[in-house]
Amino acid sequence: MAPVSTHIGAEAGAIAPLVLMPGDPLRARWIAETFLDDATCYSEVRGMLGYTGTWQGRPVSVQGSGMGQPSMAIYVNELFRDYDVQSVIRVGSCGALSERLALRDLVIASGACTDSSMNRITFEGLDYAPVADFGLLRAAADAAPEAHVGLILSADSFYATRPELTTRMAEHGVLAIEMEASALYTIAARHGRRALAVCTVSDHIVTGEETTAAEREQTFGRMVEVALTAGLG
Ligand code: HPA
Repeated sequence: MAPVSTHIGAEAGAIAPLVLMPGDPLRARWIAETFLDDATCYSEVRGMLGYTGTWQGRPVSVQGSGMGQPSMAIYVNELFRDYDVQSVIRVGSCGALSERLALRDLVIASGACTDSSMNRITFEGLDYAPVADFGLLRAAADAAPEAHVGLILSADSFYATRPELTTRMAEHGVLAIEMEASALYTIAARHGRRALAVCTVSDHIVTGEETTAAEREQTFGRMVEVALTAGLG
């Protein structure tokens, strides 16, 4: 059988109803090797690896999203449209904007603000409010009582040219900054599917601290457990 989508080289039926999405495709491989049983790679197109296996006997897939909303949008559009995926949980890193957050803390994004023009174009200037699926949000919050739950900012630029705008967002309760959740939430809503973003704090915008690679791997594992529990619980 031929692959059914442009950017994901998988046959119909090769992807599970629940997909975890790290930005880094090598993280997708690490999740598959570390957490899944009988994982097989279904796509290597552009090196954006995808795997399907089982967790506690239930099927789950892991697919890299790449960095930024345009890349995320390509993959989730195809997952929902071409592979009938029902739920996507982003598992990524974020920069802390609030002094209440510490390095390695978990952030569960109830909603995602953005500086991207993607939704401004879609909604012709109206401000759409991209939010998480409430069932997934509640399940993740139950699975991780230590997590912070609240707004994040999905920025188009990692290297901000207007940091004062990020500060203004923080002054309005935004906890952390990353680059993908807003597009994920919007596209899931458009397809009537479920989405959630869970992130660990890899760097602190206020204090300038950063995690080591070893620390990132450890906290990444906790985040994957929370995502699997929320998605399959
Ligand atoms: N900005 C955007 N995305 C990020 C950051 C950041 O500081 N840290 C981790 N992901």
